[in-house]
Order: sequence, then C-alpha cells, then structure tokens
Amino acid sequence: MTETFNRFYSDASHLMKKSAIREILKLTQRPDMISFAGGLPSPDSFPIEDLKKITSEMMDEEGKEALQYGTTEGDLRLRTLLAERHRKDGLNLSPASIMITTGSQQALDLCGKIFINRGDVVLCGLPSYLGGLNAFSNYGAKLKGIPLDDQGMRPDLLEKTIVSLKNDGSIIKFIYIIPDFQNPTGVTLPLSRRLEIIRIAERHDLIIVEDSPYRDVRFEGTPEPMMSSLETHGRVLTLNTFSKILAPGFRLAWVTGHPEIIDKLVTSKQAADLCTPPFVQRIVARYIEKGLLDVNLKKTVDLYRNRRDYMLRCFREYMPDGIKWTEPSGGLFLFVTLPPSMDAARLLEKAIQKKVAFVCGSVFYCNNEGHNTMRINFSFTGEKDTCEGVRRLAEAIREEMASA
Ligand SMILES: Cc1ncc(COP(=O)(O)O)c(C=O)c1O
Repeated sequence: MTETFNRFYSDASHLMKKSAIREILKLTQRPDMISFAGGLPSPDSFPIEDLKKITSEMMDEEGKEALQYGTTEGDLRLRTLLAERHRKDGLNLSPASIMITTGSQQALDLCGKIFINRGDVVLCGLPSYLGGLNAFSNYGAKLKGIPLDDQGMRPDLLEKTIVSLKNDGSIIKFIYIIPDFQNPTGVTLPLSRRLEIIRIAERHDLIIVEDSPYRDVRFEGTPEPMMSSLETHGRVLTLNTFSKILAPGFRLAWVTGHPEIIDKLVTSKQAADLCTPPFVQRIVARYIEKGLLDVNLKKTVDLYRNRRDYMLRCFREYMPDGIKWTEPSGGLFLFVTLPPSMDAARLLEKAIQKKVAFVCGSVFYCNNEGHNTMRINFSFTGEKDTCEGVRRLAEAIREEMASA
C-alpha cells in the first residue's frame, strides 16, 4: 500500500513496528487453525459466573463511582489490597509505591516514555518479550541483548556488555528482565543471579525493570524472591498483571516501585488515558476481597500444569530426533530449538498450510538471531487440538528436515 500521508507522520512513528505476534494472531483466528502462537490464557480459567455476580453487586452498591472518572494512580482500595498481597513477597509497600495501569503493556510504554531519550541503551534478554522490545524501541532506544542460558540472563555477559558500552560513550538507562518463567523461554532466574544482577545495576547506576506476569503461574517448586524484595533503594520497578492470573480482557495491571518513579509514571499516564477504568478496578477489588483470586488461581495453575504435561507428552511422542525443547515449571510457553540449518520462518509457512501456528523465536531476538527457534504456547489449546497440532507440526518439521 502506498503511504499517502507519509509527510504528516512523526519521526517517532517511523520507528514503530507492528508486532509480528499480533500479525500471526490474525491468521490464527481462522476457525480451522490450531494455534500455539499467542500467549493466550485458557478461557476455561475465566471465572465468569463469579464475575457476573460481583459485577451486579458492585453496580448496585457503587455504580455511580464505578462509572465516573477515577484517579490516575488507581483506586486506593485496590492498591491497598495489592500492598497487602505483596506482604507474602517480603515487600512492605505503601499505596504511594503502587500504581494501576491498563495492562502491563501500558507500563512498558510508560517506562519508555519516562526513561528513554533517542539513542539510550536498554539491556534486555536475548531473547525477550517482543511487546517490551517494541515499547522501548518506539522511543528510540537501542536494544542490546544479553544472552540467556537455562538459568536466565547471564550476569557475566551483562557486566561485560555494560563496561564495553560505557567505554564507547553509550548512555544505558535500564535492564529489562523477566525473571520468572521468562517469555519466550520459560526459564527462571535463580536467587544468586538475581542478587548478582542487582549488584551490577548498583555498580553501574542502572534501573531494573522487572516484568513478572507469570510469577504466580508456578506448577512446582518454591518461588524465588522478587528482585524488588532484594533491593532496598528503589532501583527496581516491578510490573505485575491480572492478565495471566485472572483475565487479560480486564486490561488491569500494577507497577510497584519507588514513590518518586511511580509519581513520574502517573504523570506520564495522565496524557495516555487519564485513568484505568474504575469499573474494572472495583470489580477486581471485590473479587480479591472475597478471597476468590487465590481460589481461581489454584484452579488455573492446576489446569496449566496438566496442559504443560500433556504438551510435553505429545512432543516426546511426535517430535523427530534433533529437536530440543524446554520443560518449564511455570508460565505459558515451551521454547523449541530446531537444528541450526533449519529456518523457523520457512517452517511456519509449511505449518500454516497444515493449519497449525507458532511464533518464530527470532522475533524475540533484538539482534535478529534465533532463526532456528520457536515459541509454543500450551495454555490455550485443549488436549484434542494439542495432540493434533503437535502431530501436524512434527510432520512439517520432518518434511523441512528432508528437504534441507
Ligand atoms: C513478559 C510480558 N510482559 C508484559 C505482557 C503484557 O501483559 P498485559 O496483558 O498485562 O498487558 C506480557 C503479555 O503476554 C508478557 O508476556
């Protein structure tokens, strides 16, 4: 399509890229497609009946307030409930250290807005969540990827990179890290690395943006401490969301951090959307007050554990030799590595013909690597589709292997 209005667009708009994942998701909405592509929670985890009751109750008792504008920082009752919830994480937060956002995605965008000047460097995992990378590069950030291994971001390479960037005169603003069941790899950062990365941020005076949507979606084992609970000077900003523990359709999330940074984020949010819908905040506050969030979360975790186990069983049954995949203890994704000679983008074309979709791992690599990797979601599809989808995918892989 020719761009008739090109001359009107800002320089910043030219930096913007459409998310490769959103584009694939459009394809996957075809009714006969089996999609492992999106990071979609299962609709079976949505507590529709409870939410219907709570919404009706809420409208009877506080409809007038719920339908009015709210404060930009978010509903005080909800923020107070979240502060209480975080006590189990060893965090002692005042409501001033918490703001509500319209999804974590908005928080990522606001971080870009308040921290990044064009040309500043953001350090991120290699690979890392595409929505975060796009949010930062929209503001002109240069993304520098730090390789991960099976324990997450490598602190030794992080420090080496920082030193070399500083020697070149680069300005580095923050480390973007997803410590729990990372998107896309599913790996979790152990305590020792969390501490090391915090020490590195302190030594080089950097902020840490800890993005943790999957933390509570843990199938087994003990949670590692949140990075914000290991650091006492407000250097860590943590992004949390209801998307994976309740329902992404609420578009409800929260950020915790130093009150000064929270205040700056609140100011920048005013221009974005004035406030996150008070209607939604009040429903979710009631849902938490009734103790239903944890009950539903347990059901969700049980459901996803079964789905992970089933997906792994199908992988073991159908995948040819030479294919490797992660076995995560939480989150929503497996990360698959194909033989180095294979290209996941070509494989995707074949897979789409066979009516199965995934996301190419390369979209998560800010340096265009990872051409032989792919991300597979296991939370969305039920057993029948999972089995059939993995069978079709394995068939596509075999055909690609034979033609290579
Ligand atoms: C790592 C990460 N951060 C942020 C988000 C955005 O979440 P939300 O639905 O709260 O905007 C996602 C969504 O999948 C994600 O995986």
